[in-house]
Amino acid sequence: MLRGLEARDRAPLERLLVDTRAFRPDEIPVALELIDLGLTPGGGGYRFVVAELERVVAGYACFGATPCTLGTFDVYWIAVDKTLHGRGIGKAVLGAVEEAVRADGGRMILIETGGKPSYAAQRGFYASTGYVEVARVPDFYEEGDDRVIYRKLLRPAGGDPR
Ligand SMILES: CC(C)(COP(=O)(O)OP(=O)(O)OC[C@H]1O[C@@H](n2cnc3c(N)ncnc32)[C@H](O)[C@@H]1OP(=O)(O)O)[C@@H](O)C(=O)NCCC(=O)NCCS
Repeated sequence: MLRGLEARDRAPLERLLVDTRAFRPDEIPVALELIDLGLTPGGGGYRFVVAELERVVAGYACFGATPCTLGTFDVYWIAVDKTLHGRGIGKAVLGAVEEAVRADGGRMILIETGGKPSYAAQRGFYASTGYVEVARVPDFYEEGDDRVIYRKLLRPAGGDPR
C-alpha cells in the first residue's frame, strides 16, 4: 500500500535508513530533517510517498518541486527496507512520485546519486526505471565519488508552453 507520510513513520524510517547502510551517519539527520519538515503543516514543499507492507513501513521517497523552475521536480531521497530490496517496492514508490508530479503538471524529474562503485545498484535501479544520466560532477561527494544526475522527462521537450 502506498500512502502519504504520518508521524508514526519517523522512527521506522530512521531505522530503515540506517539499516540500508547506503548512507553515511552524517546523511541520516539530513533525511530526518526533511521528514520533520514533511510532518509540519505546509511541509516546506517536501512531499512523501510511503510504502507499507502488512502494516509495516517498507520504503519511502521524498520529493518536491524544484524552487525557481517551472515544472521541474527533484526526488531528494528514496530508500527501501534492506530485507525487501528487489521486490518492486522502489519502483512502485517512484511510480507514485511520478504520478503525483504528472498530476501537478510537472515536466521532468531529477534524481542525484553517487558515482562510486558501491552505488552501482542505485544507478542500475534508476536506469531500469527509465532515468537517463544527463550530467556528472567529478569528485563531488568526495574524491572518486561523482555527483550523477539522472532525469526522466514526463512529457516531450518543446511541448505546450505553460
Ligand atoms: C535503490 C532502491 C531504492 C531500489 O529499491 P528496490 O525496491 O530494491 O528496487 P525494485 O525492486 O523496485 O527494482 C526496480 C528495478 O530496478 C532494478 N534494480 C534494482 N536493484 C538493482 C541492481 N542492484 N542492479 C541493477 N538493477 C537493479 C530491478 O531489476 C528492477 O528492474 P525491472 O523492473 O526491470 O525488473 C533500494 O535498493 C534502496 O533502498 N537502496 C538503499 C538506499 C539508497 O541507496 N537509496 C538511493 C540513494 S541515491
